[in-house]
Amino acid sequence: MYNLADRNIVLGVTGSISVYKAVDLASKITQAGAVLNVIMTPEATNFVSPITFQGVSGRRPYNDMWDVNPDIAEAHVALARQAELLVVAPATATFMARLALGLPEEMVSLTALATRAPVIVCPAMDSQMYEHPATQEHLNTLGSRGIQVVGPEEGRLASGQMGPGRLSEVETIIGWIRHVLGRAGDLAGKKVVVTAGGTHEPIDPVRFIGNNSSGKMGYALAEAARDRGADVVLVSGPSALPGPVAVEIVRVRRAAEMRDAVIAGCAGADVLIMAAAVADYQPVETVRDKIKREQAETLSIPMVPTPDILMEVGSREALLKVGFAAESQDLIANARRKIENKQLDLIVANDITASDAGFATDNNRVVILDSAGGQAQLPLMPKYDVAWHILDRIVSLLAGRKSQAEA
Ligand code: PMT
Repeated sequence: MYNLADRNIVLGVTGSISVYKAVDLASKITQAGAVLNVIMTPEATNFVSPITFQGVSGRRPYNDMWDVNPDIAEAHVALARQAELLVVAPATATFMARLALGLPEEMVSLTALATRAPVIVCPAMDSQMYEHPATQEHLNTLGSRGIQVVGPEEGRLASGQMGPGRLSEVETIIGWIRHVLGRAGDLAGKKVVVTAGGTHEPIDPVRFIGNNSSGKMGYALAEAARDRGADVVLVSGPSALPGPVAVEIVRVRRAAEMRDAVIAGCAGADVLIMAAAVADYQPVETVRDKIKREQAETLSIPMVPTPDILMEVGSREALLKVGFAAESQDLIANARRKIENKQLDLIVANDITASDAGFATDNNRVVILDSAGGQAQLPLMPKYDVAWHILDRIVSLLAGRKSQAEA
């Protein structure tokens, strides 16, 4: 989607039991709109037939360097030239040794040697093979040549043993693909700070004041900014979501901790996007021991306002500030008031009375308002797509500032 659409990607598949994950990877890359060519080693075809990859990618895989009747002449050179990215997943110890030593003996290592596109290698093998000094040396060699090594992860291996060697999850590999393809995007060289999730304001050791924010909107913004080339710092309140790859994540609990992390993150930043649902009040004190039910008939908890993070960050020319407004009434009027009070460049307003948008949903329906009075209503769409639209507005505001400064 977006930064994968129409991108020319080559997937190299080598012989490991985890080839089944590569089928899912090929399917997801194709569904995201990329033009995917698959190349396989002869060993890989022992695990999965090329026809499986043909089924998910819509293209005939290349697996025979001696094919006398190929679709394209000099397939490895042609694919290597066309590729914007080569991903090898799974990558065996043998493949990494061939690439490190420059010994191309089959289509995947031939293409890897011939391409000048960025290369991502995702190792998968038994722990003992992975930990062997020869494999580690080859991995270091590949890393020192600018090849992005992703994984392996720890877990249960085909041998039944536990340890490092599992092929990274498909979503993780796709995150790296998006990051590598997005490096020269329209936010390259920009630092973007994003907040996500709610905050927990503790009442006693087991209870807190919180809200229903899942973090989905903020995490989608962090991923989309990364996919457009930004250096991203994600300040996250408690959330069950895994940290996005290639994003610096700072985990916090309370509003005061989020304030400190945001102020630190904003040093040298170009953009701050506050998608977090920060608690507006916190208990005056956190009771040391768990409050007992029999202690009192009714319970009142005195509260004071939390720090207003957007206000405390302040205004400076070089920092573009974007807020969110979660409203159950007078959406536009309340959002406009917040733009002014918090001195924002943009505010993204969500109507949280809608059951299909806002808190903890996969989709959102928002209105983007700017400080000049402009307003754009977006239909219901996935939060990643909403994030992309918000970033479009941010990119054009940054461009406007740059041309003003140059005039
Ligand atoms: O995480 P999800 O489940 O995906 O849900 C997404 C969301 C609905 C939480 C998100 O889209 C959203 O609307 N976030 C802002 C919610 C909110 O707290 O709005 P607010 O109107 O209370 O605050 C206005 C702005 O001030 C926000 O940018 C907020 O981050 C910021 N704020 C609020 C309080 C505070 N103490 N400091 C702040 O900086």
